[in-house]
Amino acid sequence: MKGIILHGGHGTRLRPLTHTGPKQLLPIANKPMSQYALDDLKTAGVVDIAIIVGDVYPEKVKEYYGTGEKFGVKITYIYQDAPKGISHAIRLCKDFIGNDKFIVYLGDNVLRKNLIDYTKKFQSSDADAMILLCEVDDPQRFGIAELDKEHPGKIKKIMEKPKDPTSNLAVIGIYFLTPKIFDIIDNLKPSLRGELEITDALDMLLNQGNKIEYDTVTGWWKDTGTPEDIIHANKLVLDSIGTENQFLIDIDSKIKDGIVIGKNTEISRDSFVTGPVIIGKNCKIGPAVRIGPYVSVGDNCILKNCNIENSIIMEDCTINAKVDFESSIIAHGSEITDNDIPKKHQFLLGERSQIKL
Ligand code: G1P
Repeated sequence: MKGIILHGGHGTRLRPLTHTGPKQLLPIANKPMSQYALDDLKTAGVVDIAIIVGDVYPEKVKEYYGTGEKFGVKITYIYQDAPKGISHAIRLCKDFIGNDKFIVYLGDNVLRKNLIDYTKKFQSSDADAMILLCEVDDPQRFGIAELDKEHPGKIKKIMEKPKDPTSNLAVIGIYFLTPKIFDIIDNLKPSLRGELEITDALDMLLNQGNKIEYDTVTGWWKDTGTPEDIIHANKLVLDSIGTENQFLIDIDSKIKDGIVIGKNTEISRDSFVTGPVIIGKNCKIGPAVRIGPYVSVGDNCILKNCNIENSIIMEDCTINAKVDFESSIIAHGSEITDNDIPKKHQFLLGERSQIKL
C-alpha cells in the first residue's frame, strides 16, 4: 500500500496564520498538523508516501519533512499548481501509485484512532474503495454519505456539502482507494466551486456498479479549517496526550499530571501550570505565570506575568505582559509586552489579524 498526504490549498479562513506557510504545518500540541497524518500512515505500515504540495510555501514542507528518513518513511513530492480539488491532486499521483492500493489522507484532518484496523480491512477486501464516516451536527460543511436503508451495509449516495443533507454522516478526509479511481477522475467535471471533488468521484464509482465499503469512526475526528477548529483540535489532542501512538511525546520530555515539559525548560516557583498542557524545550516560564488547561507552548518561549488558557503559543515567542489570554493563537516569533502608559496599546499587526480587547 502507498500513501498520499494532501498539503496544498490556500487556507484563507486561517489568515493571517497562513500568510507565511501552509496551514498543514500549523502546530497542534507542538506537532505540525500533517505529521499526525504521516505518523498514522507509518503506524499502519504505509511508508512510501507522496506529499502533494501547493503554491503556498511548498519549500517549507520540503524543509520540514525532507526525504522522510527522519520520520521513518520515504517521501516523494508532487506539485499541484493551484487548488483544483482533491480528485485533481489524486490524479497527479497516477505514476507514483502504479498498481497498488493506496490511502489518501488530507493533511488538515486529525483522527483520534489510528489506521491499523481500517488498513488491514481494506488490504484483505475486494472493495474498490473504502471510506470512513463520522456523525456530525453540521453535515452541510462536509461531503456526506447516505446509506441504503433497503440494503444494510451499502451506500446509496455520496454528495459534497449538500444544502439539505439527507444524512448526518460526514465522509472524513481519509480515503482508501484502488487505481480504478484514476479512470473515474478522467471523466469528472469541476464542481460549482471549480474543483474536481473526491465525493463526485466516489459517487461515480458507486454508480458504475463498483463496491465501496465504509466504516464509522470511533473517538473523535477533526477537520481544521478555522482558528476555532485548531484550538479545539489542540484541546482534543492534549486530552489524550501520552496515551496512544500518535500522541506519544518525545523521550526527552517529562510528563506528570497531564503536563509535558521539554528539555531545559525552566518554570519559576511562583508560576502554576494546570494540565493538560505541553511546553516545548528551552522555555523560561515565570515570574507570575499561570498556564492551562489546554495550552501548547512551542520551544524557546519566554513567558512572564501572563495567564494563558486554551491557547496555542508557537515557537520563539516572548510574552511579558499582565494579560489574560484565552482561546488565542500566537504565531512563531511574536512579541507581546506591556506598554508603559496604562490603557494605551501599541500594535504591529499583519494582514487579517484579529484582536479582541
Ligand atoms: C473536503 C472534502 C469533503 C470532506 C472534507 C473532510 O472538504 O471535499 O468531502 O468531508 O474535506 O475534511 P474541504 O476541506 O475541501 O471543504
